[in-house]
Amino acid sequence: MDMIDKIGVIGAGQMGSGIAQVGAAHGHDVVFLDISQERVDAGIAMISTQTEKLVSKGRMTADERDALLGRIKGTVDYADFADSDLVIEAATENEEIKRTIFKTLVPHLKPDAIIATNTSSISITRLAATTDRPEQFIGMHFMNPVPVMKLVEIIRGIATSDATYQVINRLSGDLGKTTAVAEDFPAFIVNRILLPMINEAVYTLYEGVGSVEGIDTAMKLGANHPMGPLELADFIGLDTCLSIMNVLYDGLADSKYRPCPLLVKYVEAGWLGRKAGRGFYDYSGDTPVPTR
Ligand SMILES: NC(=O)c1ccc[n+]([C@@H]2O[C@H](COP(=O)([O-])OP(=O)(O)OC[C@H]3O[C@@H](n4cnc5c(N)ncnc54)[C@H](O)[C@@H]3O)[C@@H](O)[C@H]2O)c1
Repeated sequence: MDMIDKIGVIGAGQMGSGIAQVGAAHGHDVVFLDISQERVDAGIAMISTQTEKLVSKGRMTADERDALLGRIKGTVDYADFADSDLVIEAATENEEIKRTIFKTLVPHLKPDAIIATNTSSISITRLAATTDRPEQFIGMHFMNPVPVMKLVEIIRGIATSDATYQVINRLSGDLGKTTAVAEDFPAFIVNRILLPMINEAVYTLYEGVGSVEGIDTAMKLGANHPMGPLELADFIGLDTCLSIMNVLYDGLADSKYRPCPLLVKYVEAGWLGRKAGRGFYDYSGDTPVPTR
């Protein structure tokens, strides 16, 4: 495979929707799958809303938006990946879920199709080993929101071939992204650095050192971060944050990565951040209100 034309995306949440949008915006036909038609429809609705904003800002014409949406085919049937050159998995950050997805996916793929995963932290080598093609398996870690953020972190598993790396590196450039290559160690580069900082912000809240607002204001104005760490945690999703901390804690066996009990409690409450309407902030009104 030296050119990617048709792209499959698995998982129609915030990341999958962004990936499908960017793929279609760059002329690729996209097959877009989730576990139910409702989830697929919700993902397509997210893309409609995002592209509508671009049209109203004059950054895309209505015709371009219609053409983009016309290139995305929603489905719940893996058989629709039969002619995909690349399938990007962007489902929930849970190793069991991802393993089941790859087992289901593989029998439907062309022999030369490449599989990429958008995992934030799980071992590419271990996920690749669940497929019949570890040399055609790679980490393609987009950032949130995908249409805006410039980086794709590329992670090669132990068996990933040079050819696979070259094709995915080139595709990332064609999608308007800059790449950084990370070795396959827990959480790679971005989240190895970012998530311990977010976890420490939750400890700072847990220990009463600062309030939600105090911590976010301190890091925005004191460290020149565009978003405070708790605001960012809500944006990423607290379940995803907790999964990444668990991967770091288990994978590096170092107590400095232990997830803050308060983060665990928020996830157990279902307060997962923006996507759930509540996390460290409550998003039900016009402006987010701190929940502590
Ligand atoms: N949120 C972020 O900031 C961010 C950034 C980079 C990478 N990621 C990674 O992207 C992936 C998705 O994260 P997200 O934020 O979009 O999560 P999300 O909760 O918004 O979406 C996950 C989607 O996966 C779907 N799903 C669950 N099980 C499935 C299955 N068996 N088959 C098909 N679809 C299934 C869910 O229905 C949901 O629509 C995760 O691996 C996450 O670590 C997230």
